[in-house]
Formats: sequence, C-alpha cells, structure tokens
Amino acid sequence: MNAERTTISEAGTHVGETVQIPGWLYNMRKSGKIVFPLLRDGTGVMQCVAVKSALPENLFETIKNLTQESSVIFTGKIRADERAPGGYEMDVENVEVVQRVPESDAYPITPKEHGIEFLMDHRHLWLRSQRQHAIARVRHEVVRAVRDYFDSHGFTLVDTPIFTPAACEGTTNLFEVNYFEDQKAYLTQSGQLYNEANAMAFGKVYCFGPTFRAEKSKTRRHLTEFWMVEPEMAYADLDEVKRVAEELIVFIVGRVLELRRPELKALERHVSKLEAIKAPFPRISYDEAVKILHSKSSEIQWGGDFGGTDETLLSEGYDRPLMVDRYPTAVKAFYMQPDPERPEVAMGVDVLAPEGYGEIIGGGQRIHDAALLLRRIEEHNLPKDAFNWYIDLRKYGSVPHGGFGMGIERCVAWLCGLEHLREAIAFPRMIYRLRP
Ligand code: 4AD
Ligand code: MG
Repeated sequence: MNAERTTISEAGTHVGETVQIPGWLYNMRKSGKIVFPLLRDGTGVMQCVAVKSALPENLFETIKNLTQESSVIFTGKIRADERAPGGYEMDVENVEVVQRVPESDAYPITPKEHGIEFLMDHRHLWLRSQRQHAIARVRHEVVRAVRDYFDSHGFTLVDTPIFTPAACEGTTNLFEVNYFEDQKAYLTQSGQLYNEANAMAFGKVYCFGPTFRAEKSKTRRHLTEFWMVEPEMAYADLDEVKRVAEELIVFIVGRVLELRRPELKALERHVSKLEAIKAPFPRISYDEAVKILHSKSSEIQWGGDFGGTDETLLSEGYDRPLMVDRYPTAVKAFYMQPDPERPEVAMGVDVLAPEGYGEIIGGGQRIHDAALLLRRIEEHNLPKDAFNWYIDLRKYGSVPHGGFGMGIERCVAWLCGLEHLREAIAFPRMIYRLRP
C-alpha cells in the first residue's frame, strides 16, 4: 500500500497518519540504537526518528549510513512534538534512497564554518541551507508585496526593455554589448525613461525587472545586476512621489512581519526594529543633511554626493527610513526637475533605510519642459539622437510627473539584517563574481 505523499509544511494536517515525504537528508544525529535524520524538502526541515528495534535490520542500517544531501523518500507516521522545530516529527517506517551521495565525493558544505569565498563558489549548493532558504522566502514575500501594492493602487505593469540605445543613470557604469551590424547597445540601468512614456499613455505604471550597472567598486551595497521596481506617475509632484514611497515601504514591512516571522527568527533579525517602521517617515533636505553630517564631524562639502558612510551617519538618529530631498542638481541625473525657486537643487528624493542599510529608494520629479530637457541632455554630453523619442514626451501633452526606483536586494538585505547584498539574491553578480 502506498502512503499519501505530502510535504513538511503540510505535515501538521497528517498527525497520526503514515505519509511519504520526498526530500534530502539535511543532517543526522546518531545515538546507538536510534538515529535522528533531519529531512529537508524545500518547504521546511523535519526531524525524523528511526529506532533500531522497530525496523528490519538492513533498513535501519541503510538509514544510519545515509550521507548528507542524499535524496530520499521517507515513509512514516507523523507525530506532534512541541520540542520539534516545526512542531512535528516522523517515526520512520521505510525509506527509498533515490541517490546516495558517496563518501568518496561527499557534500562539500558541512555544518562546520566555511569562508565566504568558498560558500560563494558553492552558491548552487549553499542555497540549500536554512539561512539561505529564509532569505529567499523573505525576498519572495517582498516581491509579492510590491506587486500587490501597485496592482491594488491603480498601477499597470508595463515592462521596459533591457537592451537600450543610451544611458539613463550616467555613462560611467554602462555595460556595453555588441548589437547587430556594428551597433552598440547598453544593458539597462533603469527602466525609467520608458516608464515615462508608459505613464503618459496609462497614467500610473510600474516596471519590475533586472537592471545592470558596471559598478567598479567592491562594496557590500553594490551588485552589477540587481532587481528594481519602478513606479512612474503622470500628474505627480515630489510630495506625491514621497507619499507613495512611504506607503510602499510600510506595506512591504507589514507583509513580511505578517507572513515571514519564522524566517526572520531563523535569521535572528530583531523584529522590534521592523515593527517600528510606520508612517510618517522623517523628511529632511540635503542642506539639513549636510548640517547634521557636519555636527557628526563629517568633512562633506555642500555639493558633494553622500557616500555609504555619510548615509549611515545620517540614518543613525532615526528608527525609520529617512527621506532626504533636494540634492544639488549637479550630482543628480540629467532628467531631474530643478527646484524652480532654487535651480541649484533638484526635486529628487533618496530614502535611506535605518540601521546603516543606506539608500533603498531613489526618485523624484522629472523635467517636463522640452527646452530645459534638451539643454540638460547637451550639458551631460548625451547623444541627442537617442533621446528624440524621450523629448517627444515633452512636446505632446507634457505634464509634471515623477516616480522612483527601489532596489529589491537593498530592501531584502535591510529586512533580513544581512551584512552584504550578495546573500539577497540567489546568484549574485559582482565585479569579481560571475560564477556559478
Ligand atoms: O538611485 P537610482 O540610481 O535611481 C534610478 O535608477 C532611477 N532611474 C529610478 C527611478 O526614479 N525610476 O537607483 C534606484 C535604487 C537605489 O535606491 C538602490 O536601492 C538600487 O536602485 N541600486 C542598486 N542596488 C544594488 N546594486 C547597485 N549597484 C545599485 N544601484 C542602485
Ligand atoms: Mg540613487
């Protein structure tokens, strides 16, 4: 008779029944006449119990000699046990070994400590650890929350291209690729410019996909390929951009707290820090931020962009994300609307996460005047031909508009309390890391 197949996360609905769970051997504790295989199946990890006196001898030996990460289908009776990590255990009655990992070529990641480079080289296997599992599930929740937020607030998803003919966020970190017939193309740094066309067609839109930057610096906050969600809204000003950014962050944090507590616990994340994330977020100007930095003995000059250390210093005094607006126009992208009363500052905003996680959102209001936009394109030495279509948006029914981009890995790193962005995505791409 074949027992019903189930998963570890569903085991609780089968208490007292004999079921089959396919998975992998995570680890095993042995004490003479009884062994405790830990089974993982992607939905969780469950302790199983195999007792020598209760099993045919060869079956007990087979279980006892299983090696780490061998693929196995366990059959046994589910029992509730308060002390068990997931609340349930299985009393093993049978095992089918799908593939036994041989001792001669044992699983390379053992429960002992490994260095980060070793783990990164084995990222394809490291993903099987409970910690990586928890991070991936928080990431999934963040992505779902992002989509739910925009889908339920009148935004239409319109995806933007990855091959582009020109830069969006400056020319210093562009990835160039050969396109056909000697044409050059660039991997997109941001979907924003196309998003603006989409917003003029549909009002409120968002795009959500991978973006690329040839970041030559090795920092814990930079990837060369990262995922960004970007809303864009017609008839929206800087204040509206800030309001949406704030509402989105509060929504995401709420969802993760509601649905991913076990994962946050596995990551030893202080949830009280996340519970403090409520509107309103503090809002300061770049001018004020420079004053705060001076009071903390930073040597920043008015006019310079903030580095990672400045961002950490700035967010120190706050238990929620900090919104900094009106950066010097000179350090920001060509498309930023200058403040009409003070053109040396731009109507842009950065949102800095607490606890030193740095900028998670960048955005603002875009130039809507055709002549000014053209001037800025020239000042930035951008190829005008490639931007004709973008200038068209200012010729045919131009309106004030704005939006922002949120980096998913930065957001996940903050929510999970990760030291480095490399764990926030399954296969990170960094200056010295293209494999696996
Ligand atoms: O501030 P950024 O450069 O803004 C833009 O690209 C705008 N065009 C977005 C828009 O208004 N539609 O990037 C936005 C966010 C940053 O706040 C950060 O979270 C993330 O993208 N980001 C990175 N994440 C990981 N690695 C990198 N190298 C990143 N660069 C930016
Ligand atoms: Mg930015």
